[in-house]
Amino acid sequence: MSPLHVTRTLPEDATDAALRADVLSGLTDHPKTLPPKWFYDAVGSELFERITELPEYYPTRAEREILADRSGEIAAASGARTLVELGSGSSEKTRFLIDALTPLRSYVPVDVSESALTQAGRALIEERPGLDVHALIADFTAPLELPATPGPRLVAFLGGTIGNLLPAEREKFLAAVRALLAPGDGLLLGTDLVKDEGTLVRAYDDAAGVTAAFNRNVLAVVNRELGADFDPAAFDHVALWDAEREWIEMRLRSRTAQTVKVPALDLAVHFAAGEDLRTEVSAKFRREGVSAELAAAGLELTHWWTDAGGRFALSLSVAR
Ligand code: SAH
Ligand code: TRP
Repeated sequence: MSPLHVTRTLPEDATDAALRADVLSGLTDHPKTLPPKWFYDAVGSELFERITELPEYYPTRAEREILADRSGEIAAASGARTLVELGSGSSEKTRFLIDALTPLRSYVPVDVSESALTQAGRALIEERPGLDVHALIADFTAPLELPATPGPRLVAFLGGTIGNLLPAEREKFLAAVRALLAPGDGLLLGTDLVKDEGTLVRAYDDAAGVTAAFNRNVLAVVNRELGADFDPAAFDHVALWDAEREWIEMRLRSRTAQTVKVPALDLAVHFAAGEDLRTEVSAKFRREGVSAELAAAGLELTHWWTDAGGRFALSLSVAR
């Protein structure tokens, strides 16, 4: 069995400095915000895995259906010897792709969640002896340095995670992905599609309250890392559909007027009763929009697959 290589490009102290900077700017902004990557500590990654199994949360099942049906086609079109996966999490659905890609030599999962990454990496080197796994603990919104592995390269960005970036961040992100590719290399992108409001809102506000717990977990992260005294129970989970921007917006709504202290930032933050803290967007897409955003980054859409229900799309594009 080949060993698991783990590279940390996120030093612990840089993570801490980035968290401080993000929390300070977010909590003093109007409206108040907190950026999404801080959801994924070990508890957050566990809660996300539970979200993927909820009856209301269709994106994971829809994307898995596409991968199960189309991995042969994807592999034939790509011929990749290196698969890089951004925001790989548990790498669960990726196994369809890894199995179909017969020329594959190296798998490079990239995630901010060290716990998710090492768990997935260890399982993979056991299940797929001979596959070279280079796990990268890194922020995919910052410049990435990939290990020197053989081309052609396929970058996968699954789960609809691109929808968690704001439009300007998406543009910058896609240009950076293009810069990781040589002409002819590919990007496999998972995008959740625009659909009726009820289905969308239920997917982000499930009956069992798992998504609410996931949303509130960001407060527990700020408490633990920065000594804050957020009472997670004093905030309601809210999921709203913004029909104009075509995104779901997740918020935490203060139940009462309250002041939260963040000692590490020497900060006291006042919340009015009913005031929202915006935590995450999840944009939904249409084919024309995806194709145009890819083209603007120098990527040409060559394939578009959806699940039978037409809820979710996987696109393959090629670097020009
Ligand atoms: N691809 C998996 C997981 C999706 S959840 C799936 O489809 O089920 C989003 C994943 O991206 C989480 O594992 C989270 O830890 C990771 N993530 C979120 N923001 C990130 C960032 N800025 N850099 C690297 N990883 C990030
Ligand atoms: N990429 C996932 C999505 O947008 C992340 C996600 C699922 C999420 N449920 C969430 C993020 C709830 C925040 C809150 O579908």
